[in-house]
Amino acid sequence: MRHLKNIVLIGFMGSGKTSIGRLLAAKVGRRFIDVDKEIENEAGMTITDMFAAHGEAYFRQKEAEYILLVSHRRSAVIATGGGVVLNHENIKNLGKNGVIISLSASVDTILERTGRRSTRPLLNRPDRADVIAKLLADRTELYNQADYIINTDGVTPQKITEEIIVLLKQGGYIRG
Ligand code: S3P
Repeated sequence: MRHLKNIVLIGFMGSGKTSIGRLLAAKVGRRFIDVDKEIENEAGMTITDMFAAHGEAYFRQKEAEYILLVSHRRSAVIATGGGVVLNHENIKNLGKNGVIISLSASVDTILERTGRRSTRPLLNRPDRADVIAKLLADRTELYNQADYIINTDGVTPQKITEEIIVLLKQGGYIRG
């Protein structure tokens, strides 16, 4: 049944997956799962520390394992890490039992939204703007595999959440 499908948010760092996911879950009365948070809790360390101690490949392995696990759940709102699309298995697994929504944003928006925090190892460097532009160019096609793509530039998380709810009702993914 469509309404039991997970609602999965993908998109670049700073696209609003976590804040919108939390709002959306509260509005539609579903459980919210933040994949990065779960990985951190399970490992007992932050993602930044995990990258530093074990490298990115180790994190990607943990990420893929957790995605497989979470793909078996029902009716959850799931916020993923920005790099989840790098492994096609992840998207395949998430899509089996989920509707995938991609949140997009421009380089400037991402720069602004990620500027205040240093919790993202990939952006913890002086040439942050260049890194964002390059990663975004490399990944845009991957994010575009989603069922729905929503641009978040200059729009509040509340408005985006409302927009998503309209789309999900139209698609029969939530009761309207
Ligand atoms: C990453 C995004 C991060 C986190 C890790 C790697 C990426 O998640 O998973 O730092 O490769 O884009 P957010 O998108 O929640 O920042």
